[in-house]
Amino acid sequence: MRCIAWAAMAGLLWMAPAMAQSTFTPSDESPEDLPAGAGRDETFYACTACHGFKLVAQQGMTRAQWDDSINLMIRRHNMPAPDDKDRAVVLNYLEATYPPRAPAARGGWQNPFAK
Ligand code: HEC
Repeated sequence: MRCIAWAAMAGLLWMAPAMAQSTFTPSDESPEDLPAGAGRDETFYACTACHGFKLVAQQGMTRAQWDDSINLMIRRHNMPAPDDKDRAVVLNYLEATYPPRAPAARGGWQNPFAK
C-alpha cells in the first residue's frame, strides 16, 4: 500500500514539469506583438522557429552583438544560416528595435542606495 502511494507521488512529481512546459508554445506569440518596423515579420519567424520571441526581446544589443547572437544560433543551435540579405533585414530590425539599454531606462528594480 505504501509503495503504491509513493509510486503515485513520484509519478506526479515527474509529470509536473512536463505539463508546465507544454502550456507554452511559441505560437502563443505573433509578429503583431512586436513593435512595428521593417523586417519585423521576417525576424519574428526566423527566431521563433526554436524559442519564444521573449528570449530575443528581453535583450538589448548593438548590431555587432546581434550579429554574434545569430552566429551563436548557427554554431551552437544549428540554426540554418540566413543569406546576407535576410541577415541584414533581421539585423536592421533588431538593431532599431532592441538597442542596448542604459540600466536606468530598463524600468526594472533600482537600488535606492546606488546614487
Ligand atoms: C535552430 C534553432 C534556433 C533559432 C532559429 C534561433 N535560436 Fe536563439 N536559441 C536557440 C536555443 C536552443 C537557445 C537556448 C535555449 C534557451 O536558453 O532556452 C537560444 C537562445 C537564444 C538567446 C539567449 C542566449 C543567451 O545567452 O541567453 C538569444 C538572445 C537568442 N537565442 C537569439 C536568437 C535570435 C535573435 C534568433 C533569430 C535571428 C534566434 N535566436 C533563432 C535556438 C535557436
